[in-house]
Amino acid sequence: MDKLKKVEEIVKASCLTSKRFKAHKFQWAHVQSVRKFAIELAKKLNADIEIVDMAALLHDIGRVRYSHEDHEKTSAEDSEKILKELDYPNEFIKKVIRAVLTHRGSALPEPETTEEKIVACADAMSHFDNLLTLFYVYMRDFEKTPEEAREWTVGKIEKAWRKVCKIPEAKELLEEKYKAAKLIFADKIQWD
Ligand SMILES: [Fe+2]
Repeated sequence: MDKLKKVEEIVKASCLTSKRFKAHKFQWAHVQSVRKFAIELAKKLNADIEIVDMAALLHDIGRVRYSHEDHEKTSAEDSEKILKELDYPNEFIKKVIRAVLTHRGSALPEPETTEEKIVACADAMSHFDNLLTLFYVYMRDFEKTPEEAREWTVGKIEKAWRKVCKIPEAKELLEEKYKAAKLIFADKIQWD
């Protein structure tokens, strides 16, 4: 098995056996979606595809294994261990863990290189692949009403969109979907 396949197996197993989430399959689907967008942007921006793909694959591993809190740090630590064990070159590992560490818009440090910016942006872009899943999982796992989940999803959409807009090529890719999502989720849900 090649090394990338091995990392995929490790991340997939961590997602599917996570005790933290009922939405195990969603976690793995999220990772796939972040990788898809990261690779697409890397091609458009002439960035290093191997680095963004690996960082996208590993970016949430600490989140699924331990906790949402500080998961950029726990993900970076576990990424380093995994990549070292598989004998990846030090330079490659450094760039990947730095992109993992900077992937959260809300957490310091900020992304600096194109690869780091791409991974942070792709994470936000992936929300637009999964809006109905986000809505449903939030309602189910936090026992919210449909209207509460709608409001929360609207907040998610806006926050993700602000991150997406940091890269013009990403904005262009998702503008239509953002506008459509805003329209659909604008209608309040009358439940009781
Ligand atoms: Fe993520």
